[in-house]
Amino acid sequence: MKKTVLSCIQPTGDMHYGNYFGAVKNWVDLQEKYTCYYGVVDYHAMTMPYDPKKLRENVWDLIINLLAVGVNRENLFIQSLVPEHVELGWIFNCFASFGNVSRMTQFKDKSSQSEEKAEGFISVGLFDYPVLQAADILIYRADYVPVGKDQEQHLELSRNIAQRFNNQVGKEYFVLPESLYTETPSIKSPADPTKKMSKSAGEKHYINVFAEDAVLRKQIKSAVTDTGDTPAGEMSAGVANLFELLKACGKMDAHTSLMDDYKAGSLKYAPLKEVVADALAEKSAAFRANKAELNANKKEVKEQVKASSAEIRKRAQETIREVKELSGLLNVRF
Ligand code: TRP
Repeated sequence: MKKTVLSCIQPTGDMHYGNYFGAVKNWVDLQEKYTCYYGVVDYHAMTMPYDPKKLRENVWDLIINLLAVGVNRENLFIQSLVPEHVELGWIFNCFASFGNVSRMTQFKDKSSQSEEKAEGFISVGLFDYPVLQAADILIYRADYVPVGKDQEQHLELSRNIAQRFNNQVGKEYFVLPESLYTETPSIKSPADPTKKMSKSAGEKHYINVFAEDAVLRKQIKSAVTDTGDTPAGEMSAGVANLFELLKACGKMDAHTSLMDDYKAGSLKYAPLKEVVADALAEKSAAFRANKAELNANKKEVKEQVKASSAEIRKRAQETIREVKELSGLLNVRF
């Protein structure tokens, strides 16, 4: 039997090469070996102040983007189409330790971000977010969760909740999920290669995976290579980022001479940038073509993802039925 992998992503704006090489490409690759559930988590997107008019649009945009870069539609679900996540989330609130949840560092980071803004509103949902995340994972009895370092604490909490539930009901019901480490590159901003590629820093700091050729080439051409403060004998962050992109595109072997040039101290930035731009342009062209096709059949695509969500929901409903049984609640018939 194949092991189960679960991961989720929040619906927010464009997809860039940092997201793609850092996480989504890994999702695509894992589909071969595992039974995968990938969620677009809109209930999570409500935890920070947000625009209700845009949420649904962002969800569908992200669905189209994920499909365009190679996620299989039958593995995708939209969280609000599987409302059992929230029901399990409530039940888990009663198995999660307040002290433990209070120690989550992502809450501390995000709530201080909110405090700095004029509104200064911090929702209870933001505090409770990791408990809903535990429900996302455990509702499918996932064996593995491919997560970055920032999510490790949340995964640990999921295990604590699972363990407490199992102890209280006297049955090893929930699988304790483990993190799945795969080497994923951390892609940096072309405009400031000391920082991660990100949307929040502004347009110059990320390369959209669907970028038009000219835009993409211009961004690579103007990428910062040497800021002058790199210690002697070390590769500058900008040059390292260009090599990292080349490697992530699987094009390093085709260009070993560039690394030889670097080692010999004779590397010229223009040809390096050119091969990086070519490699990304090739990917983006394919992604854009996929996206155009999906957009042309948007209605049908939406129906298919609704259907896959309904199929995945069956698994979630089975868990909820058993959990209610075990925890002394009554079941409605579905
Ligand atoms: N918390 C994750 C993030 O901030 C998103 C997420 C929600 C998630 N539920 C999940 C990730 C379950 C993995 C598993 O990116």
